[in-house]
Amino acid sequence: CRFVVLVSGRGSNMRAIVQALRDRVLPAEVCAVVSSSPDAAALDWAREQGIATVVVPHRNYASRELFDQALAQAIEAYRPDYVLLAGFMRVLTTGFVERFNGRLVNIHPSLLPSFPGLHTHQQALAMGVQWHGCTVHFVTPVLDHGPIIAQGVVPVLAGDTPADLAERLLCLEHQVYGEVARWLAEGRVTLDAMQRVQVRGVA
Ligand code: GRF
Repeated sequence: CRFVVLVSGRGSNMRAIVQALRDRVLPAEVCAVVSSSPDAAALDWAREQGIATVVVPHRNYASRELFDQALAQAIEAYRPDYVLLAGFMRVLTTGFVERFNGRLVNIHPSLLPSFPGLHTHQQALAMGVQWHGCTVHFVTPVLDHGPIIAQGVVPVLAGDTPADLAERLLCLEHQVYGEVARWLAEGRVTLDAMQRVQVRGVA
């Protein structure tokens, strides 16, 4: 199973995915890491690991459509089965999403459908929720909205700042995204006719 991971920054989820796929004897690998920014720290780590890296700098493109076309070409050169968004900070066009339909997966730092978009930890604290979490989902043209594959939950504690909550959640994001990458590699994840996710072998 071939994965391409898309990043824009730090890349801690990308590292978790690479490590999760290495931890087990799986015929699966991250073939390339593609970044929308040349400065992403994710790129340095991937290069150290001997993983191919590609930069498609979004600033070089006059429109979202042109950027997405270049991005799609960069990705397809690696013939991935799945494209995993891991801290990828660009909104993708419908054309791009449809091109990778059923193969494009994202992690979002909230319990969707609550708190789509940015600043999810602030949103959670402002709403006074007692539980926060992350969601790994298939990407559809509606932002942060596709069929849910897996979620993880953390408590919100008294006195939490957005940074506290983000840090607590990030550890869980790594576990959940790593687990989902393994499920995908094992061919256990399917979408049913209702666009609901079925994961074989998980209660
Ligand atoms: C994560 O919190 C992810 O959920 C969100 O952006 C952050 C990226 O962190 N989409 P990293 O680049 O994976 O370290």
